[in-house]
Formats: sequence, structure tokens, C-alpha cells
Amino acid sequence: MENLIEKAASKIKNSKLTIALTGAGISVESGIPPFRGKGSLWEKFDPMKYAEINYFLKNPNEVWEVFLKDFEKTLKKAKPNSGHKGLFELEKKGLLTTIITQNIDGLHQKAGSNDVIEFHGSFANFYCLECFERVDIQGLDLSQIPPKCKKCNGILRPDCVFFGEMIPQDALERASMLASQCEVVIVIGTSALVQPAASIPVVAKTSKAFVIEINPEPTPLSDSIADITLLGEAGSVITDLLIELETF
Ligand code: OAD
Repeated sequence: MENLIEKAASKIKNSKLTIALTGAGISVESGIPPFRGKGSLWEKFDPMKYAEINYFLKNPNEVWEVFLKDFEKTLKKAKPNSGHKGLFELEKKGLLTTIITQNIDGLHQKAGSNDVIEFHGSFANFYCLECFERVDIQGLDLSQIPPKCKKCNGILRPDCVFFGEMIPQDALERASMLASQCEVVIVIGTSALVQPAASIPVVAKTSKAFVIEINPEPTPLSDSIADITLLGEAGSVITDLLIELETF
């Protein structure tokens, strides 16, 4: 592991363009459960009901009551952990340009990161299904479920990507461009099972980037796309990387 950290740090130090792709795993240490695996959200809730757009549009009351209401509470309580903060440290050192995140929790921005592509949208904002009036999470009134638009009484939805919806066009375009231009991509806390996000490291690798993976468990990337897999939790591995970078 020590040698791998050293090699990863050296690649980051010598790279002209490094990006990160993050998934739910980086926010586990902030108290947000991942989607897959033990104790995960999709173990308790069927994603084809509670994260699928047609089901939501037909059953917004149920989806808000069963899933979104508590998910909102969990996200509101969460604070950035040493993984998020460590990525901001890398940015400050000029060693990380952009974070492409599949997460909707806003924790990278809260940690200070300035260039975050929200590939699956954000749970910080909501809009009305009828008149598209927008409201942020602070202005969200959950005293009645589903929450309603103050202007027209339509039902509100989070501004994140449900299964069955497109990735926001600007996010998709920027992420694809960076994947094909970067010299190093650090892939952190993602099972790499959901497309098109999972293709970002593949595009990077095809374009000759060096792929560093950080995850406590091996993933489908580990034996194929990743040049290095640093097995461990995001917070401690990113901290180790920063310590190693101090020695250069
Ligand atoms: P997953 O829940 O599929 O995967 C989480 C990954 O994080 C797993 O590979 C874990 O091994 C790893 N992990 C767990 N704890 C960790 C820690 N402390 N540090 C680092 N890694 C850790 O989450 P995603 O890959 O982000 O999409 O899921 C992708 C998409 O599937 C989500 O954005 C969401 C979901 O359905 C939509 O809802 C559209």
C-alpha cells in the first residue's frame, strides 16, 4: 500500500490535468448511506420505485412519504468529512482541477471545492412540477408531504436525476471533455455500475490517462481500468495521499 500511495502521489504531482470522479462512498463517513451493499439505501428501498421518474410522477405522495422525506433530513445534517476536505486541499495545491460527482449532497462545495460538476443534479434545489418555480432546500416546507409550491400549489420535486432521466447536458459535455483530456483521474467511492458515469474512467483510460481508484472494496474497475487501486476509506486514503505529497 505504501508503494502504491507513493506512485499515486507521484502521478498526481507530475500531471498537468487531474480530475476526480466521486460516488456515494466518499460521503459514507459523513453519515449518508451508500446506494448498494450492506446497510445501503437500495437494500431497503426499491430504486425502480423510489428513484425512477415515471413512478415518482405517478406516485409523488408515496415517494416523498416513504423515501425523500427522510433522505432530505439525512442530507441536511451531513457535513463534509476528511475525504471532501482533502480534495479541496488538492485543489488549493493546484493538483486537482475539477470534481465530477454522482452525489447530490453538495458536500464537495461545502468543503470548499470550486469546480464541481453535479452529474446527477442536486438535492439542494427543488422545483414545481406545474409552474417550474424554484425553491432551495432552506425554503423547503416539509410540514406537509408532498411539499407544495407556494405560488401554484403544485408538487415539488428535487432537481436531481431520477432513473429514466437524462444527465444534464452541460454536465455530460464537460465531464466527457475532461475525461478525454485529463492525465490522471482519481475515482473515489463509486461502485462504477451506473452509466454513463461509469464510462468516465473508461474514456480517460482510452485517452491514456492514469486511473487511481480509492475504495475499501474492489470494483469492476479494479482489475481492468484502474492502474492503481488504493483499498481503504476515502477519508484516510486521501489524507495519506496529502501527507505523501508533502514529501515531494
Ligand atoms: P454505490 O452505493 O453504488 O457505491 C458506493 C461505493 O462506495 C462502493 O463501491 C463502496 O465499496 C464504496 N465505499 C463505501 N464506503 C466507502 C468509504 N468510506 N470510502 C470510499 N468508498 C466507500 O454508489 P455510486 O457508485 O455513487 O444514481 O452509485 C451511483 C449511482 O447509483 C448514484 O449516483 C445513484 C445510484 O442509484 C441515481 O440515483 C441516478
